[in-house]
Amino acid sequence: MHTTVLLRETVESLNLKPGMTVIDATLGGGGHSLLAMEKIGETGILVGIDLDQIALDEFEEKIKSVRDGRIKNNSKGPKVHLVKDNFINLRQILKDLKIDKVDGIIADLGWRLDQVKNKKYGMSFQIDAPLDMRLGQEGTRTAYHVVNSWKEESLVDIFFRYGEEPSARKIAKRIIESRKEKKIETTKELETIVIGNATSRRGINPATKVFQALRITVNNELENLEVFLKEAMGVLNNEGRVAVISFHSLEDRIVKKFFRANTGGCICPKEFPICVCNQKKNLKIITQKPIRPSEKELKENTRSRSAKLRVAEKVSIN
Ligand SMILES: C[S@@+](CC[C@H](N)C(=O)[O-])C[C@H]1O[C@@H](n2cnc3c(N)ncnc32)[C@H](O)[C@@H]1O
Repeated sequence: MHTTVLLRETVESLNLKPGMTVIDATLGGGGHSLLAMEKIGETGILVGIDLDQIALDEFEEKIKSVRDGRIKNNSKGPKVHLVKDNFINLRQILKDLKIDKVDGIIADLGWRLDQVKNKKYGMSFQIDAPLDMRLGQEGTRTAYHVVNSWKEESLVDIFFRYGEEPSARKIAKRIIESRKEKKIETTKELETIVIGNATSRRGINPATKVFQALRITVNNELENLEVFLKEAMGVLNNEGRVAVISFHSLEDRIVKKFFRANTGGCICPKEFPICVCNQKKNLKIITQKPIRPSEKELKENTRSRSAKLRVAEKVSIN
């Protein structure tokens, strides 16, 4: 079962009050949602979004358990909308639900443990399964497709950019040679190729970075994050907050840069005599430095070690 990362830190950072509307853009196991439900109470509204229908179905069951008292939760009340969609469609999702603006948005990026452990998602080299990696199990771009049909240069590019893998060239070359003999079908087959052609750093399996790069590519994760942040700005009430948990530096850089760019202020080069960028102040940064898991959380959940939480608040524009 997935263990929610930075649970209290995230939900408390949103300053939620009874009656507020909150979006959990990455519902997953619903840990953040359940705590947010307590905060917004019976008059609040929760919108839970996930690409993965299984997450939505399981959360629906959880809500039933909360409502009939099988799961302890201080709130049985808020109206809950569960939506299977990509969080890049935030504005349209709210429009369809006839919700104008919201007070808080949570995004806990990436995958949940149940997806990694389930063979169907073909995501991990720890479990031998057909290569897939689609979090939402839709669309034709799978890891199998990328590994077996992309050009060598494109593979080098994603391994460098999304995996920051120094042996990107060597690995891509070996993939091309290998697939001429036989298609690379499973996570273990790919792991074997990568391990034979990359050096392990600090005891981490060298396949980790290549698998990360493929997952980012298959799910369009970085582009989606950029779109999501813009959409979030468009639906937040003044003084509403957005909290984003990232798990690697590529994601964190996007969040940090977006928050900075919206905290206003001119981004023209210093030598310009007048401002030409007209950059508006849309956000106030709440976390000057990202919030990291406590020692206790790190001990209890090793996946939390790379988590970084950044929070920003929408400011009124006069
Ligand atoms: C880290 S888990 C969230 C865990 C959740 N906060 C909890 O407490 O259990 C991330 C979830 O976001 C979903 N997801 C990833 N990218 C998404 C996207 N672009 N749109 C919607 N859901 C997405 C995944 O399917 C996964 O269930």
